[in-house]
Amino acid sequence: MFNNLKNKEQEELLPEHIGIIMDGNGRWAKKKGKPRIFGHKAGMDSLKDVAVHGARRGIKVMTVYAFSTENWTRPVDEVKFIMSLPIDFYSKYVPVLKEENIQIRMIGERAGMPKATLDSIDRAARETSENTGMILNFAMNYGGRRDIILAIQELAKSGQDLSTLTEEDLSKHLQTAVLPENLRDPDLIIRTSGEQRMSNFLTWQSAYSELYFAQTAWPDFDEAELDKAIAAFQKRDRRYGGVK
Ligand code: FPP
Repeated sequence: MFNNLKNKEQEELLPEHIGIIMDGNGRWAKKKGKPRIFGHKAGMDSLKDVAVHGARRGIKVMTVYAFSTENWTRPVDEVKFIMSLPIDFYSKYVPVLKEENIQIRMIGERAGMPKATLDSIDRAARETSENTGMILNFAMNYGGRRDIILAIQELAKSGQDLSTLTEEDLSKHLQTAVLPENLRDPDLIIRTSGEQRMSNFLTWQSAYSELYFAQTAWPDFDEAELDKAIAAFQKRDRRYGGVK
């Protein structure tokens, strides 16, 4: 009975939506004397492990920052490689995602992304659309400021009176509208590899997110590291600007 109660309390404190800034692939590879793309490839495998673990723990949404609107300034070969990762990820891991009841979604601007990359994401989304478990949401060609601007442009084009715009109106037009309404804002944002900044990730949606910074580089971030981040979250006192 006590155990049940304890489990229930723990469950209530579980972050429903976790955002992850998967940083440090390049530095991790460099330390091993390998090219940066070696780090991205290892990062893809970490992502599978962490996503499966999150799904098994009962996380409802995991949004992962795979490519930002600023990442286009990287060397052409590196950009090409990162854009090929979803193709690799989906061909390798869709059976696992299906088995783990994980659904695939994407946020970010489709314009400018290679067709093959989009096709593989769309196919994975279709093939996992019957699943009812965790949503693994890929932020690709995503920028938080761009997200807000595009939403306002869309509202203006639809004839909405912007002088009476509410937070709810805007939220409905952000790219996170592909997620269930109560799960659009991350409860917890994890950034790996020691940097402590947001880098244009979910700018609007992170207004009340708890932030967790891990020293571990993304390719070494594993199930135990995710558990550590969740445990840290569970000790936080979320007041949303009020008093308790
Ligand atoms: C940041 O590390 C990482 C990226 C910009 C790419 C993230 C991509 C993955 C982890 C693979 C994701 C998988 C799919 C399926 C898209 P960095 O290159 O900035 O590392 P550094 O800060 O050490 O240079």
